[in-house]
Amino acid sequence: MDIEVLRRAPLFATLDDDAFRLLTDELTEVDLSRGASVFREGDQGDQLYFIVSGKVKLGRTSPDGRESLLAILGPGELFGEMALFDPAPRNATATAVSETRLAGLKNESLNALLRSRPEVSAQLLQALARRLRRTNDSLSDLVFSDVPGRVAKALLDLADRFGRPATDGVLVAHELTQEELAQLVGASRETVNKALAEFVQRGWIRLEARAVVILDMQRLRQRSR
Ligand code: CMP
Repeated sequence: MDIEVLRRAPLFATLDDDAFRLLTDELTEVDLSRGASVFREGDQGDQLYFIVSGKVKLGRTSPDGRESLLAILGPGELFGEMALFDPAPRNATATAVSETRLAGLKNESLNALLRSRPEVSAQLLQALARRLRRTNDSLSDLVFSDVPGRVAKALLDLADRFGRPATDGVLVAHELTQEELAQLVGASRETVNKALAEFVQRGWIRLEARAVVILDMQRLRQRSR
């Protein structure tokens, strides 16, 4: 398993090489193709997952079948820890949005690690606090921002985490369909398409299959406020 990405993850930054090696002996590899689910909302959980490569969406389904996305996570990030820290069924469905490799860690192994290396707990708390901050931001945006503002913000956030320099801007290979992008910003596909089309027409972005090239970061940032 290519665990270099995990070695660089903040969660493990405090571990020395021996402790990290002991931890990686406990990991199990999970390979997923696009659309495959790791677990579903309501399942029982006995392990958490680190993303080695690829991307995972965390989504919830309403009683009438509509879907909403809580987050898109990428390499180095973890999910599935809530069922461990506060035993309850899985709070969301985790699905690969591209070819994805995960490393699973059983609850017992994580508990043993936290007992022997309490400093890892501090990193975990930081990751949870960061996630709560992000969720609060999204909640405020749902109340205070219009759909184009939320689309601009989502694109900037994806660019921040997954963007790569391109000849004419920043290439964001987010791997999401327009439906998934709409689920992420909490709006209908039609409204999100309209916002994207407007950004294209203004020359701020260029659309590609499951990717976007941000041509004018500054204007997009202004629109996101
Ligand atoms: P768990 O409840 O075990 O399974 C679903 C996982 O989704 C959950 O743990 C968290 O790891 C993750 N998750 C839940 N809510 C959010 C959120 N708002 N942002 C990012 N990840 C989340």
